[in-house]
Amino acid sequence: MSEIPTLMENNRRWAEGVTERDPEFFERLSQGQSPQVLWIGCADSRVPANQVIGLDPGEVFVHRNIANVVVHSDFNCLSVIEYAVAVLKVRHVIVCGHYGCGGVMAASHNHPVGLIDNWLRHIRDVRQMNETALNAIEDDDARFDRLCELNVIEQVHNVCRTTIVQQAWEQGQDLSVHGLIYNLKDGLLRDLETVLSGLEDLPATYRVGQKADPH
Ligand code: CO
Repeated sequence: MSEIPTLMENNRRWAEGVTERDPEFFERLSQGQSPQVLWIGCADSRVPANQVIGLDPGEVFVHRNIANVVVHSDFNCLSVIEYAVAVLKVRHVIVCGHYGCGGVMAASHNHPVGLIDNWLRHIRDVRQMNETALNAIEDDDARFDRLCELNVIEQVHNVCRTTIVQQAWEQGQDLSVHGLIYNLKDGLLRDLETVLSGLEDLPATYRVGQKADPH
């Protein structure tokens, strides 16, 4: 069902449908974008940003990679965050993970997968940092679910530790960073209630701006 002619036909029908409902839609969007949300999610085909949060084209800026990892030396992700925060001035960054994540699963075992093991090392770090709490969970599925959640929480903090987000906060920009997790089994998002919205939410160790706590 994913042959190219089919996709082209799908596209033509989609564009016609949109234009029927809103004749100015594409003309308006061609003038520019002003999304209020940056979504950082997993590349998994079952977790498409726009559909999951019910937003149209133009309403959410998106970065996806395997297991929604935010690494301070990944210029791909950092460039997306910089453009979204400094130029588009989004008001919310959402890091969205999902239960049943293959990347997180691969990082929960000690079998080699390939090149991806290097990328997933970041999730092994999350595993190591939370070793005691994770080992206390006896049920394998529950432990895996918890690692998916802890990974989201860690990546929320990684977004906030970037100089980009810190500079935005120093300049008084209204910006909050949230952690959500998606359930493949019912299509519902759960708020992990990890929200950071200012420099005061950041440990002093990671503060690099002029207004950083002196000690
Ligand atoms: Co995933």
